[in-house]
Amino acid sequence: MPTAATLTVIGLGPGDPDLITVKGSRALQAADVVFVPAPTPDESGRALAIAQPWLDLPRQQVLTLPMPMRPNLAPAHYAALAATIVQHLRPTPPTATPRCGAYLLLGDPLLYGTFGAVWEQLCIHDPTLRVAIIPGITSFAAVAAQTGILLAHKDDRLAVVPALYALDLDSTRQLFQSFATVVFLKVGRVLPDLIRILDQLDLTAHALYAEHIGMPEARVVRDLSCLREYSAPYLSLVLVRQPQRRST
Ligand SMILES: C[S@@+](CC[C@H](N)C(=O)[O-])C[C@H]1O[C@@H](n2cnc3c(N)ncnc32)[C@H](O)[C@@H]1O
Repeated sequence: MPTAATLTVIGLGPGDPDLITVKGSRALQAADVVFVPAPTPDESGRALAIAQPWLDLPRQQVLTLPMPMRPNLAPAHYAALAATIVQHLRPTPPTATPRCGAYLLLGDPLLYGTFGAVWEQLCIHDPTLRVAIIPGITSFAAVAAQTGILLAHKDDRLAVVPALYALDLDSTRQLFQSFATVVFLKVGRVLPDLIRILDQLDLTAHALYAEHIGMPEARVVRDLSCLREYSAPYLSLVLVRQPQRRST
């Protein structure tokens, strides 16, 4: 009696292939089908470049899952992706050995990843599918390590927030009243707004900007004043660590 098909969701880490976990690299090697969510097949390149040392092509099938860079994609979109995944993992004939899939994500899969919405649909589509998650090194852990910034110490509080949503002076001020360190993900086009707010809170000097960390084109900027007009790429973040303050 064949066992159920398995989908392993692999956190690839921030970009440097050396930062994949050993468990993640083993799951990559074992996969029959590798699913890469990306806006277009061309843009699946980043995840594949990270995974490349552990792929076994052409034995493995690589499939791009179209994932437009838009908030609030309709559930029907995720349902279609779930159907594609199930279809590729289902054994044919039904008595054959079930296939193993790997779903690739940058950083950690459960931190603002695309998998959450797909997972919901997978459960509806095929409740027998086994899903395993392999955590990954987050972008901000890699930035902190590269720049030597303590994320949190002793009783410090750390907040990780998406800058793209509800970025205003009052909520950001409140954030810094409660947290010693704040990591803003999904900075992209709102970077100039974020810098303006940090200026108003007198925090720009304690902020650091990082893009494409772990990748050949990585860039870290400590003086955010030169980024006031900058159109930041999607893979960018701002880390602010307040000096000498205790969280309240
Ligand atoms: C959809 S979230 C995914 C976060 C990811 N799962 C993680 O663990 O870091 C994408 C955001 O993560 C951040 N990010 C991911 N990889 C990055 C990198 N290599 N360099 C800088 N920021 C990155 C950016 O803020 C980007 O907008």
